[in-house]
Amino acid sequence: MKKVKYGKLVEFVHMLIEQSCCGNQALNFIDATCGNGFDTLFLCRAAGENGHVLAFDIQEQAIERTKMLLKSNLNFVNYEAIKDSHEFISKYLTSGSGIDAVIFNLGYLPFSDKAVSTKGDVTVKSVQNLLPFLNPDGRIYITTYIAHDTGDEIKIIYSYLSSLDKSKYNVLHVNLINKENTPPELFIIEKNA
Ligand SMILES: C[S@@+](CC[C@H](N)C(=O)[O-])C[C@H]1O[C@@H](n2cnc3c(N)ncnc32)[C@H](O)[C@@H]1O
Repeated sequence: MKKVKYGKLVEFVHMLIEQSCCGNQALNFIDATCGNGFDTLFLCRAAGENGHVLAFDIQEQAIERTKMLLKSNLNFVNYEAIKDSHEFISKYLTSGSGIDAVIFNLGYLPFSDKAVSTKGDVTVKSVQNLLPFLNPDGRIYITTYIAHDTGDEIKIIYSYLSSLDKSKYNVLHVNLINKENTPPELFIIEKNA
């Protein structure tokens, strides 16, 4: 069995995606904030050769870092890395492109300009635009950090997600309750039926 620390939310998200998609073919995944490409690499492997992954970031250096990581670690190409903001992802989708999982790993690109960071209102717009494309068993995973903007982004996301129609969606909020220094928090959105 693979060793996973649930408290490391990135590992936890990957484990949940692996478990929920296990054995399925031709999966469609989205990395809404590809950064250094680690989540994209995970999604490409989980989707397999017949699956497809779209990865987005607003920074050219993130797109380049992601492409380099994928080229040196995959022997197939099942991805596109696109320099655009995640609020416009639906431009790259067709009505037939049902999504199985989306990862948002928010904040800023490590070892880079911290001012270029995700914004709560933009993240909310992206989620609103992605929900119609979610497959019946699809999920959106949003890992949020408080430190980079003293919690504004998380408040905006929490407020929007807690208002989602309960008859259509389940929204989970995962917190590490015994950690100091504002640990990350995870939101998961799935369709109810
Ligand atoms: C914490 S990093 C992502 C880490 C990444 N998933 C990985 O595995 O390395 C957050 C990224 O979000 C990107 N970002 C900020 N605003 C964005 C937006 N509106 N659309 C897409 N990406 C955005 C930043 O440029 C940064 O690279």
